[in-house]
Amino acid sequence: MMAKVIIARKKSELDAGILHYRENNETISLVPTMGALHEGHLNLVKLAKQKSDRTIVSIYVNPAQFAPGEDFEAYPRSENDDISLLIEEKVDLIYIPDPKSMYNVHHATKIIVGGVAEGLETDHRPTFFEGVALIVTKLLNRVTPDYAIFGEKDYQQLATIRRLVDDLDIPVEIIGAKIARDNHGLALSSRNKYLDSHGLKIARQLNKIMISYASMMSKGANVDKATQTARAELLESGFSSVDYIEVRSPNSLTILEGGVLNSPARLLVAAHCQGVRLIDNYPIN
Ligand code: PAJ
Repeated sequence: MMAKVIIARKKSELDAGILHYRENNETISLVPTMGALHEGHLNLVKLAKQKSDRTIVSIYVNPAQFAPGEDFEAYPRSENDDISLLIEEKVDLIYIPDPKSMYNVHHATKIIVGGVAEGLETDHRPTFFEGVALIVTKLLNRVTPDYAIFGEKDYQQLATIRRLVDDLDIPVEIIGAKIARDNHGLALSSRNKYLDSHGLKIARQLNKIMISYASMMSKGANVDKATQTARAELLESGFSSVDYIEVRSPNSLTILEGGVLNSPARLLVAAHCQGVRLIDNYPIN
């Protein structure tokens, strides 16, 4: 008989599911998402299923990580499709918290991560990681999973969450999952839905340009020159603006001096196309 997936909207329903798993000495993975699920999210679910006995996926569009003027209202929501996809993946529990239950009217706590969370995204979305750190901490505290899975697509987010969990002694192992791409190499994202066919063509240049400059820098090209030329090439390809294209150390995301690289690094990019902000990153080995 196929086990029925639990859809928990109340904390008490979540607690009952977790209690049952823990009574059976089962391990739990959590995959936090904002819904509008695609193959990238489903890869995280597959990894979670390999890691632990039970898999919990949360779906919550977290208002705290959207700044005024960003797309919180318009963010794609497709709850029924998401639930069907997760049932196909045979997850055990889908946690869709009632938004009213998430932030209490008296909520006053901030979590500010320094170091890895500084620069890059934060230069353009100053309160983004505060919002992410808060919701991830709350979800980890509510679910108490053994593992939590995050994608390398949001590379600085993953590094920030690793820092947060380590600094605050949150008892969970953070697992990073490789970036899922379409067959043109474009990193899958819920926001790709906003692009028309012309926009998609432009967007698909991003990974091509990144790969070619990552390879040049691994062969000794000067980092400052390479990133400047890559930026110009992105604009020529049709991107309306480039928020950043930077090379950082792969774990602490420390700024590297602009010369020639002598150890592995990471190329990180954010660029706009048809009003959509695309982010991507690539290893430089
Ligand atoms: P969301 O954008 O829905 O992404 C949920 C998870 O899926 C994140 O860990 C993200 O890195 C991962 N992901 C998205 N696209 C991916 C791709 N193409 N390849 C691999 N992984 C991918 O990131 C968030 O939500 C939120 O900030 C969240 C962590 C849920 C906190 O609200």
